[in-house]
Amino acid sequence: MYNVICFLKISSLSGGTAMKKRTVLVGMLAALTMFAAGCGGKDAAKESKVLRAGTEPTFAPFEFQEKDSKDFTGFDMDLIRAIGKQMGRDVEIKNMGFDALIPAINSGNIDVVASGMSITEERKKAVTFSDPYYTSGLAIIVRNDENNIKSLKDLEGKTISVQIGTTGADKAASVPGAKVKTFNTNAEVFLELNNKNADAVIIDRPVGAYFLTKEGKGQDKIVGETMDAEPYGFAVKKDSKLAGEINKALGELKKNGEYDKI
Ligand code: ARG
Repeated sequence: MYNVICFLKISSLSGGTAMKKRTVLVGMLAALTMFAAGCGGKDAAKESKVLRAGTEPTFAPFEFQEKDSKDFTGFDMDLIRAIGKQMGRDVEIKNMGFDALIPAINSGNIDVVASGMSITEERKKAVTFSDPYYTSGLAIIVRNDENNIKSLKDLEGKTISVQIGTTGADKAASVPGAKVKTFNTNAEVFLELNNKNADAVIIDRPVGAYFLTKEGKGQDKIVGETMDAEPYGFAVKKDSKLAGEINKALGELKKNGEYDKI
């Protein structure tokens, strides 16, 4: 297309002085370069190779940062990187508050949420989810010295520590008479329990179980059954075709054994 424009303009110059021709040609070339750069720039942005993923990284083993490291580790991190690779896109991971993730999708700050996010009807009103990639569910964590709390029912009137904006926070809020304390990070959520400022934590069972093998070792325990199954999905902008692309990549990773490896 640019060639045609160029050809037309140059041929229309025939007849002028050599000097005039040169000046006009130089000007045209400059304009053309800017035009091409402008268009190219736009295309590059649209087909940006970088897939920007948002996460709240205090959720081991799904997303966390090793002590003294800024790198993001965990199942979701490996999986979204593998999905990006499958799609031919680099993955950039951004650290944000859990309650900031869906707003960041809607403002276009990130392309995808990779943060152990449960697929819920409420969230589906705001974003589109990929196919489920993991099945989780909530559990109750208490200190080892706690003998009266064995189920959700026993939390009535108790103090429950949860992460802000999570399904655990919703569950805690549904317990009659419970006092719910919300925190930005799960480090704070567990600290509140072990400082004896809360009676229990409600959190995704695999995350609670992992905590019990780390900082919670010898201090805390899981009680009761896992609550309802909660599938995790990658969230993207509502109706974005990115969901289909992620599903395709996820399917390929499941088929080629990469998913199982992760
Ligand atoms: N699965 C829960 C939810 O969707 C908790 C997720 C918390 N994730 C995190 N990276 N902190 O609400």
